[in-house]
Amino acid sequence: MTRDTDSQREDETAKEPLPDGGTAAEEGGDDVALDPWGSATVSDYRKLFEEFGIEEFDEVLPEVPDPHYLMRRGVIFGHRDYRRVADAMRDDEPFAALSGFMPTGDPHIGHKLVFDEIIWHQQQGGDAYALIADLEAHSARGMTWAEIDQHARDYLLSLLALGFDPEEGTLYRQSGDRDVQDLAFELGSEANFSELENIYGFSGETSVSHMQSVVTQMADILYPQLDEPKPTVIPVGPDQDPHVRLARDLAARMGYFGVTKAYASFEADAEERELLAAAYAALSEEAEGSGDGPVRCEDAADWITDEMAPDDARESATKKLREAGKEPLRPRVRFLDRNATDEAFEALIDAVEGEKRVFDEHVDSFDLSREEAEELAREVELDHGGYGFVAPSSIYHRFMTGLTGGKMSSSVPASHISLLDDPEDGYDKVKAATTGGRETAEKQRELGGKADECPVYELYAYLLAGDDDEFAKEVYDECVGGERLCGDCKEQAAQLMREFLEDHQEKREEVQDLLEQADIQLDSDRKRD
Ligand code: TRP
Ligand code: SF4
Repeated sequence: MTRDTDSQREDETAKEPLPDGGTAAEEGGDDVALDPWGSATVSDYRKLFEEFGIEEFDEVLPEVPDPHYLMRRGVIFGHRDYRRVADAMRDDEPFAALSGFMPTGDPHIGHKLVFDEIIWHQQQGGDAYALIADLEAHSARGMTWAEIDQHARDYLLSLLALGFDPEEGTLYRQSGDRDVQDLAFELGSEANFSELENIYGFSGETSVSHMQSVVTQMADILYPQLDEPKPTVIPVGPDQDPHVRLARDLAARMGYFGVTKAYASFEADAEERELLAAAYAALSEEAEGSGDGPVRCEDAADWITDEMAPDDARESATKKLREAGKEPLRPRVRFLDRNATDEAFEALIDAVEGEKRVFDEHVDSFDLSREEAEELAREVELDHGGYGFVAPSSIYHRFMTGLTGGKMSSSVPASHISLLDDPEDGYDKVKAATTGGRETAEKQRELGGKADECPVYELYAYLLAGDDDEFAKEVYDECVGGERLCGDCKEQAAQLMREFLEDHQEKREEVQDLLEQADIQLDSDRKRD
């Protein structure tokens, strides 16, 4: 059991005794690598926070109106910038949710998490988008167009059966949407090969089409903002985080203006800025006490000491401060001219109210907050024909454990349940699943089961209990309290799974027409496989 799930339990019991939605995460500390085309396992979710800067979902949860059960149960464990989306939801402002599916096989219960997340955001009033990543499936996974068409239909039917409203929302396939391709092309001019090499491990062997599928995904992620910039959440597994980070970077690079904090007229990078901020905080307090004049750059250079690592940043910051000499050190927000036309830059200068200083390639404002500055920059950009993208947000769900233990893998049918499985097979797979039970019934009664390490409990928490927290908690408590034995528990889960599959497949039949009418091309028209 990893520590994050334990502490999650503490948090949850502190608030309201909710069952843990944690997975039976594998023990063992291999490094986390986030690889969108590799095998999707995460041995330690904590590392995603520490190494990649994904934030814990618990931290925004209180701000989400009427959160989804996957959020309440910690299945959605992480996010980037989701607060923006939660704020928009609460304030009835526009927001969007988008995710994409590679049609490489049958949709399974792992995909259902993402379908549900998109649908929930749609029901909360968001613009909802689901796309079929056919270019990616073809270029990165070698799927033929005929296979892609078949799987695409299956994904879409399940999405509609689970409640996606195609009249309100948008469905498309990557290959069939001209706007996406155009946007991909524009975004591609902000990224180069070395960058893709670093992020994805691409090499000289990587096909150009695979790279094209990457810029296409970047365009997918920003697509909801083509008409109007708005907070957009991308619900995905953590393996997709490299894509999210690149999309956030590209969104910023496309902008006319960059907005940063600054302390003096010279440019500083993020590390240097931290030093400047620290120096300013320390010295301005002193100056206030003693009634001395403004804090000057050279004073800050003196203040920065050798212990302040990293070395490079310290040396470069001190050098810049010395060169600036008597210039006062003063916090401000800076608008950098990135891609603006001269007119747009002039317009921005005019629009900055209060005290400002204008330089060749930037404007400093002493009165605006960073948020106000970003808002203003976006307005001016939009007025002058730019996109004005808001950095896309993301939420990350835990991967489900395979029913046979280990990871859930589409190549091992017994390890997962397809949404197309015969309901009887679904029943049988659950009955045959590994559990977190003890060797004997006696021990189970004495010690309780290990629900946190049990794929069957996961089925309850992620799917079978649906919105019913009481029920999920009951299963959990009875299990760890030794009142629940695995045989009966699996029987109950297996029956629920059978019912779910029967019901889902019936709904799939019912939405056939809806899919035919939906505005998405279902058949590829390609000359080669
Ligand atoms: N790369 C995703 C996957 O492997 C599919 C995808 C394509 C996607 N475009 C997207 C996911 C945009 C989220 C947002 O499943
Ligand atoms: Fe898993 Fe149920 Fe057994 Fe508990 S009782 S270990 S939840 S199968």
